[in-house]
Amino acid sequence: MDKWTSQTSDNDIKACCADFYSSDVVKWLLEDSYHPGGLLLTGRMGEYLDLGPGDVVLDVASGTGASAMSLADKFGCRVMGIDLSQANVDAANRTAQASEVSDLVSFITGDAESLPLEDARFDAVICECSFCIFPDQPAAAAEFARVLRPGGRFGISDLNLNTELPPELDSVLGSIICVAGAQTPAGYKEILSGAGLSVDAVHHYDDELLLLIASIRQKLIGATIIARTQEIALPDLDLDRALDTARWASNAMQRGELGYSLLVGRKPA
Ligand SMILES: C[S@@+](CC[C@H](N)C(=O)[O-])C[C@H]1O[C@@H](n2cnc3c(N)ncnc32)[C@H](O)[C@@H]1O
Repeated sequence: MDKWTSQTSDNDIKACCADFYSSDVVKWLLEDSYHPGGLLLTGRMGEYLDLGPGDVVLDVASGTGASAMSLADKFGCRVMGIDLSQANVDAANRTAQASEVSDLVSFITGDAESLPLEDARFDAVICECSFCIFPDQPAAAAEFARVLRPGGRFGISDLNLNTELPPELDSVLGSIICVAGAQTPAGYKEILSGAGLSVDAVHHYDDELLLLIASIRQKLIGATIIARTQEIALPDLDLDRALDTARWASNAMQRGELGYSLLVGRKPA
């Protein structure tokens, strides 16, 4: 990622981000669910949105599809997932086909900032730990509003940041690991209101983020010890830099500068 500069285009960042989030390293670090709180928090979001059979839901930046399948299984709703990464979409479709919810879920490739979907098609839109990655967040919010039917609900869970980033993260690296575009809940609210969406509630899940960071740090420390004692290098991962980032995240959480929240709301009827 060092080759990137401030001249790097939004499309380059998006492509790099899609590659990163379909890599084996991310799968190893985050396992099945690529957001704090895992599928338990996804289930909580489904409850806040009052999902049920008959609802048609869009999961924007659906990753490898775990959330979409879990919502279909738990609430009986239909879920379409969309993600920029073709590899993630292929993996999600493969898993879905072998699952018990194969008739309820489907996955397509597309960009959150210009969804290839018709107006007012969905009863609910969700987006987990991804909104802060989008270079043009107002465009993504406008797309969420466009594809929601009047009265439709949305749920966005994401990182909250209320401080300046250290220079090493205030870069494309920061964009890709999500922190550079993270807002305060008020910041997300403002973007969503600008798109005509109203936020009904903000729920805080900082402990879930703390647990995820601790788990990532433990894996990185374990990998560092193995790499040093066995003199091997892990492909595609600068362990020192990854550990520095995880350490910064833990410290920022302790200072109350980094957190995780879930915003729920609706498109006015
Ligand atoms: C942190 S992962 C979250 C995945 C999933 N929402 C979850 O919680 O498991 C971020 C995802 O956003 C996708 N992504 C990044 N930029 C995107 C964009 N502009 N449009 C759609 N998906 C995007 C990546 O490919 C990746 O799958």
